[in-house]
Amino acid sequence: MSDQVTLTIDGKEVTVPKGTKVIDAAKEVGVEIPHFCYHPGLPVDGNCRMCIADVRTWNARAEKHFPARRPAVTCWTDAEENMQVFTDTPEVKKSRATVMEFLLINHPIDCPICDKAGECMLQDHYMGHDRKRSELREEKVHKPRLVEFGERIVYNGERCILCSRCTRFTTHVSKTFDLGIVNRGDRAIVELAQDSDFDHAYTDNVADICPVGALTKQDFRFKKRVWFLKHTDGVCGGCSRNCNTVVDHDRAEVIRVMPRRRDEINEHWMCNEGRDLYKTLGEAVRTSAPIAKVEGLATAPGWDAALAWAGEQLAPQKKNGKLAAIASPWMTNEEALVFTHLVTKVLKGQWLDVKDDVVDGYPADDLLHTDDHNPNRNGVIAAGCVPGKKDGKDLPAILEACAAGEVEVLLVWGPGLVNHYDRDAAAMVEALSSVPVIIQITDALDELSELAALVLPARNWAERNGTWTNVDGHHSRFKKALRPHGGSRDGFELLSELCVAAGGKPPVKTFKDARKKLKQDPDSDVRDVGDGEFSFFKNQSLYRHHGGATEV
Ligand code: SF4
Ligand code: SF4
Ligand code: FES
Repeated sequence: MSDQVTLTIDGKEVTVPKGTKVIDAAKEVGVEIPHFCYHPGLPVDGNCRMCIADVRTWNARAEKHFPARRPAVTCWTDAEENMQVFTDTPEVKKSRATVMEFLLINHPIDCPICDKAGECMLQDHYMGHDRKRSELREEKVHKPRLVEFGERIVYNGERCILCSRCTRFTTHVSKTFDLGIVNRGDRAIVELAQDSDFDHAYTDNVADICPVGALTKQDFRFKKRVWFLKHTDGVCGGCSRNCNTVVDHDRAEVIRVMPRRRDEINEHWMCNEGRDLYKTLGEAVRTSAPIAKVEGLATAPGWDAALAWAGEQLAPQKKNGKLAAIASPWMTNEEALVFTHLVTKVLKGQWLDVKDDVVDGYPADDLLHTDDHNPNRNGVIAAGCVPGKKDGKDLPAILEACAAGEVEVLLVWGPGLVNHYDRDAAAMVEALSSVPVIIQITDALDELSELAALVLPARNWAERNGTWTNVDGHHSRFKKALRPHGGSRDGFELLSELCVAAGGKPPVKTFKDARKKLKQDPDSDVRDVGDGEFSFFKNQSLYRHHGGATEV
């Protein structure tokens, strides 16, 4: 027997694997069935009844379709061979309007002050399927509002439509069992379990998936109306999982970071640490121009002078062999490719390794977080940032060589070298002080910048394009969200120019060539947002509703 079934949805034929729900089969042919409780990352609950459609099964003996006695719940119903589904009949539309009327009976309609306004499924479906004035003349039922679920989430019972997405998340995804629905009928509310303080690493996901404004994030409440936000594809650098994200920003400021669906990496979720990473962007001390502390070069030289001077220091190392280079696991794959080429091909260097830029963070767990607090160690190593086979030196050996005065030029990417190793910081400073020329390319000044002969300002993760490779080898592409810090240069470009300044040629001209050279699967970073967007809000972003940012 075939594992596939073929059915029609609004007259469009679709073939899907057996066991596919009708609502998912409909997505395959671009038919969006409205829903609230359905979420592709959660077990089916079928409680809201918004996804109803006219579903007719095929009776082989009678050789005809039998109409259903009542509309069927498509998030619960399996697609069957020869099934006919009609999602837009007058009866279906009327039933949906009735569901909407029911859900809105006690809703406070406080959209003007609700943070979900603009990305609320209740608003969207009201506009698409109801648009009636309330006929309720009695006092609405009032429920608890402003209930704090831990330090990060606020619950408003009056806006809650009891879809159970949040409770299913804590039961089936985070497995922390923090939330449950208590009471019956119009007294039902979501409550925090008595022994829970709701402070685990994944709490914010419940606000993403809440289809209405019942669960909101403390750090986003009343901060920005969502229609002012611009959305850029991002990748979280908080650990080597590389959760795919959407960076929401406005006027050169990141306002929030939300998960973007990527099934083989983070599905629909991300941790709170990753969401908060953007808050540290402003903490970095940065420079707008190169900083030099050498004779013959101004303290703030222009880029041309700085790169020419760096080239003059690097070029002789091709013969001297006293160059050491330390890459960063925050480099993009494209930057790491050019960095490796500069060190090993242009300058014939063998002393090359990757450091840690960040050593602290959430511990590894069973859901997403890994124990490497840097995003791209795998990609940087794959690009070739490893000790050379002939007389190569790894990081400890490079540090020994620095202390012994054997290194003439040290090229370092990023911050973190002085503080993160088994030597104490003072010993590190002493060892590094023995190096005549340190060139640091960095988006944040640190102790090493004090010792460096030349600091070249680079762009941070929110200001550049590139790809990272995660702990499992999946590539993810991120795009520039913010206007770069004044005077900083793109790493790929800057390194390509350093290749030329040091007497060589860059290995590739474009990012596309770099990815080809790195043999990246060209499809591996394709964004995976799942379903389509709401038909009546075509101009809205794709990132809504199913995980806040993840999909529609
Ligand atoms: S709080 Fe939100 S996600 Fe939870 S049951 Fe209510 S509406 Fe659904
Ligand atoms: S699990 Fe890692 S990559 Fe994912 S959001 Fe958290 S810190 Fe970022
Ligand atoms: S989405 Fe199917 S019943 Fe709620």
